[in-house]
Amino acid sequence: MKPACIFDLDGVIVDTAKYHYLAWKRLANSLGFDFTEHDNEQLKGVSRIESLKLILHLGGKELDAAEFDAALVRKNGWYLEYIQQIGPEEILPGAAEFLSSVREQGMKVALGSASKNAVLILERIQLLDQFDAIVDGNKVSKAKPDPEVFLKAAEELAVPVSDCIVFEDAVAGVQAARNAGMKVVGIGSAVVLDQAHFVLPNFAGLSVADVL
Ligand code: G6P
Ligand code: MG
Repeated sequence: MKPACIFDLDGVIVDTAKYHYLAWKRLANSLGFDFTEHDNEQLKGVSRIESLKLILHLGGKELDAAEFDAALVRKNGWYLEYIQQIGPEEILPGAAEFLSSVREQGMKVALGSASKNAVLILERIQLLDQFDAIVDGNKVSKAKPDPEVFLKAAEELAVPVSDCIVFEDAVAGVQAARNAGMKVVGIGSAVVLDQAHFVLPNFAGLSVADVL
């Protein structure tokens, strides 16, 4: 069987990671503490709820249940405001070309993202029709590094776990792929993503043969 490719969304296909960061930073600042890009590495790939727990821990702040929920709503409102204008120009270098060459080879393609906004973003960047399966934050209950999102994607594609290649920009996502027993290509820094099987700065110039 041909291998299948499972792509994370934020920071792999589209440059939304910076907007998540800006919205979390704005929330942290509104709660009276700062939140740096360095701290943000821990949040990449992590669900909205788990991200807020981590941020509150970093800021030494506690919220009651109602305040916690309100903070989640505020963060998502700001995030949606930031991404209102996004379009295909925010697709990361080479990602669209790589996706279509994978499909041309007859390989199956899934999305494996923690985001509940994934379908909205794929629509805006006009890539929704490139996926055979979409597993997003609305379909999973366990946050990366739990392998649930990638295991569900393999199941929806009907491809064995050992034939799946995951593309991830987040430490938690690389761990989730490893925990699923899949091969993982890190997109980003080789220092940060040192648990990936190999790491590339982006998809520019990457061919399917290179990956296989
Ligand atoms: C992705 C991003 C995270 C984000 C999470 C939830 O994995 O890397 O930064 O917190 O999705 O996204 P959402 O759009 O549901 O808030
Ligand atoms: Mg990501």
